[in-house]
Amino acid sequence: RTTEGDHKKSVQSGVLHCLYQYLRCSTSPSLPGPPGFFLLGNMMELTHDHLPIHLTNLAHRYGDIYRLKCGNTTMVVLNSTELIREALVKKWSDFAGRPISYTGDIVSGGGRSISLGDYNEEWRAHRRLVHGSLHRSCKQSLHDVIERQALHLRKVLMGYQGRAVDLAEDFTVAASNVITTLAFGKEYDKSSPKLQQLHCCLNEIVGLWGSSWISALDSFPLLRKLPNPVFSRLLKEVARRDEIIKHHLNSYKSHGKIEGAITESLLQGIEEHNNAEHGVLLTDTHVHMATVDLLIGGTETAAAWLNWTVAFLLHRPEVQTRVYEELCTVLEGRYPKYSDRHRLPVLCSLISEVLRLRPVAPLAVPHRAIRDSSIAGYFIPKNTVVIPNLFGAHHDPAVWTDPYSFRPERFLEGGGDSTRALVPFGGGARLCLGESVAKMELFLFTAYLLRDFQFILPQSETSLPDLRGVASVVLKIKSYTVIARPRPVTNL
Ligand code: HEM
Repeated sequence: RTTEGDHKKSVQSGVLHCLYQYLRCSTSPSLPGPPGFFLLGNMMELTHDHLPIHLTNLAHRYGDIYRLKCGNTTMVVLNSTELIREALVKKWSDFAGRPISYTGDIVSGGGRSISLGDYNEEWRAHRRLVHGSLHRSCKQSLHDVIERQALHLRKVLMGYQGRAVDLAEDFTVAASNVITTLAFGKEYDKSSPKLQQLHCCLNEIVGLWGSSWISALDSFPLLRKLPNPVFSRLLKEVARRDEIIKHHLNSYKSHGKIEGAITESLLQGIEEHNNAEHGVLLTDTHVHMATVDLLIGGTETAAAWLNWTVAFLLHRPEVQTRVYEELCTVLEGRYPKYSDRHRLPVLCSLISEVLRLRPVAPLAVPHRAIRDSSIAGYFIPKNTVVIPNLFGAHHDPAVWTDPYSFRPERFLEGGGDSTRALVPFGGGARLCLGESVAKMELFLFTAYLLRDFQFILPQSETSLPDLRGVASVVLKIKSYTVIARPRPVTNL
């Protein structure tokens, strides 16, 4: 009798739940969005060559929130800071998931990376562990590590002796060495084959994974049965990445430990965590994937940002002069410390403006609703993929005056434009794990560079760098050359 009663109750509550969902859906307004083609849905919208610009343009037509359909996946695109904050910060516990996808699983070691892992107990323990290790290591040495790399970068640029060069690789090496020093206590020379191998492989993975040849496999499972050379390349690069990281971790374990290195703290941390019997087991794979997360998250982003900054300064040399004059006046010849940032408002306004115009992770990383929820009054069912269009939010004409212009002074004028409307690092449970590393890097690298060099357009160049950029997971500028002319020492 009891079993029959229980069964009746569960049927009743099931019916009530369906009714509630039906009422919720039918009373909630339906999301606007472009019409789709039968099976393909809005797939074509997602193959645009500059997706952040395209999604921002769609917002002019459909509003700050709209939906796109792809196979059986519904995506909701958020195009304003207010809506991005509503979903990622205010309702973080509803939208902290990541889409579970066939290719994401392959790239993330079976969902065990922080950036692509779904929100669950295991992920929370993993993120807590890495956050703690990163924090301890940064407290001990981040400032010194960045200063050392900034001075090394200065030496490299001095070595060019005023020749026109593409600085992209030097910026990548500097940003990468910050992370490898923090992680393993190791730094590499630009010509090191190990470094080149690692960058080439991580770059390939990020590029390939962002391509529509790969995302189509997630939305249309039948395509997985067909030969796909792009996918084969991705598999090869993931295997190569795992070999390289494994080699690094093994050589770290066998060649002595480095006090304060993140790897040391992670290895110790998993042991302590597992001994405390938390119910979730963390393994070497978690250390492996955390290393991948830090290297991918921390290298291309900061490097791309530096490259954008120099390009924007070529477009408005007078901004460079103002930053230089501020550095001369405030620092009186010495090199800057991160604590000087409050006395260098012009430099900080430059950093904010480049983050606004070119948030280097322009669409963040897709989120997933882990339960039914709502955004802006629209019903958002569980499993909807949410895309925070940070690029769109940073170009929102309702918030920014003349949003497409490079005008760092907007942050100094005390008008409506304020850094509070910036969301370059996302927010909530998925806030960029390296935000504080990145902020110190952007500040110190830029201050060191602009203190010692004037960046000028080579005479051989007929036009200024193209500022449109190439968008994949990371928004990068097309390659360009520049002259880094050393500043006369006497001016400082
Ligand atoms: C995630 C931006 C540098 C590690 C993210 C996200 C953004 C972002 C927008 C996605 C947030 C979301 O899903 O809502 C940036 C920018 C950087 C930068 C603009 C520099 C200019 C770094 C650095 C590191 C790092 C230096 C490592 C030291 C990560 C990791 C995640 C992440 C591990 C995944 C977090 C998670 O899913 O929980 N970043 N990032 N990033 N970033 Fe960064």
